[in-house]
Amino acid sequence: MLKVKVAVLVSGGGTNLQALIDNQSKDSSYKIELVISNNPNAYALTRAKKNNIKTIVVKKEKLEADIEKAIDENKIDLIVLAGFMSILSKKFTKKYKDRIINIHPSLIPAFCGKGFYGLHVHEAVLERGVKITGATVHYVNEIPDGGKIIYQKAVKVKTNDTPETLQKRVMEQAEWKILPKALEKISKEILCKEEHK
Ligand code: GRF
Repeated sequence: MLKVKVAVLVSGGGTNLQALIDNQSKDSSYKIELVISNNPNAYALTRAKKNNIKTIVVKKEKLEADIEKAIDENKIDLIVLAGFMSILSKKFTKKYKDRIINIHPSLIPAFCGKGFYGLHVHEAVLERGVKITGATVHYVNEIPDGGKIIYQKAVKVKTNDTPETLQKRVMEQAEWKILPKALEKISKEILCKEEHK
């Protein structure tokens, strides 16, 4: 079966990567071929190795050039940003237009863009007194968190939430569900387009 070749870009724990690995089966439309990290100590790299997925660590100085090289050499069709803590340039996002997706831990366009990453997002949500938050999977363009939305899922904020408890619930109830779902959907669309070429 023909599958979409996927590279997952990570910087941290890799729980979203794990959700993608766990969702991958012989019937999936995608196959994770490569995990790329800008952090040599990211636990996500261990998760990849445990599942026999090739890993590459890229250095800050030549970050995009090295990512591009790895993507092109491994004939990757689709790039997934799963907790990747670096903003990609216009040149890069243009080259891979409609071929990069990202998971963000809020309901975009709320609490997104520059400075809204990790716990900061959930801190801002609690500070504002927002009652419903969630997660979004979207295409990546040159504007941080600015590309077209693919999936969103809402999560209720509880009165006794801390940034940490909220982050955990958003991950469990939203991120780990919509990211694999979006990857499968986009992969199917890519395969379909290839078939009709
Ligand atoms: C997630 O909250 C994701 O939405 C954000 O970074 C975090 C990564 O977590 N972009 P993990 O490395 O997948 O556990």
